[in-house]
Amino acid sequence: MSELIRLSLSLEEPLYNKLDQIVNRSGYKNRSEFIRDMIRERLVSDEWESGKDVVGTITLIYDHGKRNLNMKLNKLQHSTHHIVLASTHVHLTEDLCAEMIMLKGKADEVKHMADNLGQQMGVLHSGLIMGTTGDILSKE
Ligand code: NI
Repeated sequence: MSELIRLSLSLEEPLYNKLDQIVNRSGYKNRSEFIRDMIRERLVSDEWESGKDVVGTITLIYDHGKRNLNMKLNKLQHSTHHIVLASTHVHLTEDLCAEMIMLKGKADEVKHMADNLGQQMGVLHSGLIMGTTGDILSKE
């Protein structure tokens, strides 16, 4: 583990109070842990803007009864197989399916795939979790 460096910072009182509220509400053990996570969030967000490889997870909720939808979703994933790491299909109800697709590739490709899948007729909801390969978090 890296050496810990202590720092002090200055905040306006209302902002300090908000920080305390967020930390308490979120169940963080202390402010340091919250600020570490906030920095990591920012690094991941920057990674998505940098053109480097990222990891993303797309979650789709869709009606499998919609004509050709299963086939279209499958075809789209095959056409970008070089960035698809894994996918899981869950039968939610008699009509509805949930599919989670994990991707690793350039941010633009992953976003494009999420948009493409989400826009298919019969897809009721689509979400993209923007994750990281971990490189930016583990390097010195
Ligand atoms: Ni299903």
